[in-house]
Amino acid sequence: MLGSVLRKSARASAGIARGSRGYKVAVLGAAGGIGQPCGLLMKMNPLVTELSLYDIAGTPGVAADVSHVNTAAQVKGYAGEAELGAALKDCDVVIIPAGVPRKPGMTRDDLFAINGGIVKGLVEAIADNCPNAMINMISNPVNSTVPIAAEVLKAKGKYDPKKLFGVTTLDVVRAKTFYAEKAGLETSKVDVPVVGGHAGITILPLFSQATPQAKNLSADDIDALTKRTQDGGTEVVAAKAGKGSATLSMAYAGALFADACLRAKNGEANIVECTYVESKVTKVPYFSSKVTLGRDGVDTVHGLGTLSAYEQSALDAMMPQLESEIKKGVDFIKGA
Ligand code: NAD
Ligand code: LMR
Repeated sequence: MLGSVLRKSARASAGIARGSRGYKVAVLGAAGGIGQPCGLLMKMNPLVTELSLYDIAGTPGVAADVSHVNTAAQVKGYAGEAELGAALKDCDVVIIPAGVPRKPGMTRDDLFAINGGIVKGLVEAIADNCPNAMINMISNPVNSTVPIAAEVLKAKGKYDPKKLFGVTTLDVVRAKTFYAEKAGLETSKVDVPVVGGHAGITILPLFSQATPQAKNLSADDIDALTKRTQDGGTEVVAAKAGKGSATLSMAYAGALFADACLRAKNGEANIVECTYVESKVTKVPYFSSKVTLGRDGVDTVHGLGTLSAYEQSALDAMMPQLESEIKKGVDFIKGA
């Protein structure tokens, strides 16, 4: 997809995309490890005509740098809370990678107190300045930051469950890479749905539904691939040894998901992504599964299909953690 974005960007900058409406996209946390490459990738997206790069500091430099890239999007940097409203005004899609990343030994839930407060403030500003935007939540712990965002929007009378997404695309990106490697397939030709949430055992790749179906994988291989996907974030945190978590692969995944939202908004049909949304697929109120996206956000939340016995037991096992992390997010705004 990125190759096609690059090709389309070149065409867009040559004027071929003229006539499509074009969208305003904001990246909040745009001076960070994810925010900077994600801003660059959004500058290269032909559907973006205005790109707002917001952070508490550092964004004028990032925006000046990114603005020299040869694509049509107009880039502006906004720094500090006083400029947040202008950054968000009438945005169509808001990508949120603002907040602190993990260090070795930490869980995503250890980020809750600090990132919960950051997300709360940013989503309040979204409610006031672009209540119709599709929100792409990257900040961890996603299992809780999405419910936090929902409660903030509800309190402001601006909640639209069709427009709030936890970005779990990196789990799909990882599952595809690990599966293709193990099965000897081309990564670009495989697909693996990943359901649940975005932390440890709440991440559940459904290799029984992977396409194409590899015939050479044993039950032990599937178990190892499942665990590697669940621990993919921790693998990167350990390798970075105190210098943060996944940034480049996350920027890639975040750009893929934002591109899917923009293409759906632009009227393209049959856009299906795994994403963490308000859901009735299981007993918990937020859950990631395949979702068809439309002009107004979520069009259809798809069920889980047929699970293997291994996947069913992993699904049962994740429920208590997912339920409690969702409740923690809700209680953060509503009070326990
Ligand atoms: P980083 O520290 O490099 O960047 C975070 C940026 O957020 C910084 O520039 C910081 O100034 C900014 N920030 C802090 N408070 C802010 C506020 N109130 N408003 C706007 N910006 C603010 O961190 P990173 O590596 O880019 O990671 C960011 C977040 O993304 C972390 O919470 C991390 O856990 C999460 N993450 C999620 C996924 C996923 O799959 N969903 C993957 C990787 C990382
Ligand atoms: C990831 O999956 O890479 C992110 O959630 C960051 C992390 O803390 O692992």
